Amino acid sequence: MAEIAIIGGTGLTTLKNLAITERQILQTPYGEPSGPVISGVLNGKNVVFLARHGYGHTIPPHKINYRANLWVLQEIGVKNIIAVAAVGGIRADLTPGSIVIPDQIIDYTWSRHATYFEEGLTHVTHIDFSLPYCETLRQSLLAAAKAAGLAVAASGTYGATQGPRLETAAEVNRLERDGCDLVGMTGMPEAALARELGLCYASCAVVANQAAGRGPSEITMQDIEHNLVIGMDKVRTLLEHVIPAL
Ligand code: HPA
Repeated sequence: MAEIAIIGGTGLTTLKNLAITERQILQTPYGEPSGPVISGVLNGKNVVFLARHGYGHTIPPHKINYRANLWVLQEIGVKNIIAVAAVGGIRADLTPGSIVIPDQIIDYTWSRHATYFEEGLTHVTHIDFSLPYCETLRQSLLAAAKAAGLAVAASGTYGATQGPRLETAAEVNRLERDGCDLVGMTGMPEAALARELGLCYASCAVVANQAAGRGPSEITMQDIEHNLVIGMDKVRTLLEHVIPAL
């Protein structure tokens, strides 16, 4: 049974080196996950893979069934989740193609199903979310990056925006004043739901573009795709080093 899951984001809908053993279409009390759960062996370890936006990359960030995605992973025995996500870089050193292992989150999303604790409760539940990412898994990712000779930013505050549009320049200025270093659309409620289920969850963020108003010109999908190809190659290297160590 696989205890490690990789949630792939934009630019990572498949894992080339995964020797696939099974594809499972599963239901949950919260509806359907983004797609089948792919099981396989990566560098000698059993892992499962789920494409957050669906395998054809058709589900926008605000329509993702985060509850079903996390639930299904927990149901099949997953304990550790590495969530790969494309982001915009706000902090000056987070240039396109670079990798960040964030350590904090500010949530700006709205109207998403953001908790399992809302119906049929015997008591009201508040999870501790002071440190939103699993520090053990974060440290494993950082150690693997070092072993692989990959430069990664070891911390950063992820601002989770609603999307699917990108931000205005003024919104990015506000995010920066709030303390955000990077901005993405899928980090929440994914991280909080993982914590509610007691799963160890860390993110590997790939900078696809300079956030709005920071670059020399407007943000184009071509630029994003180009930078993600470079960034996701680094992610694959990182995964190949971290998986055997978990
Ligand atoms: N903003 C929000 N989400 C993103 C961005 C961005 O600039 N780039 C990739 N995902």
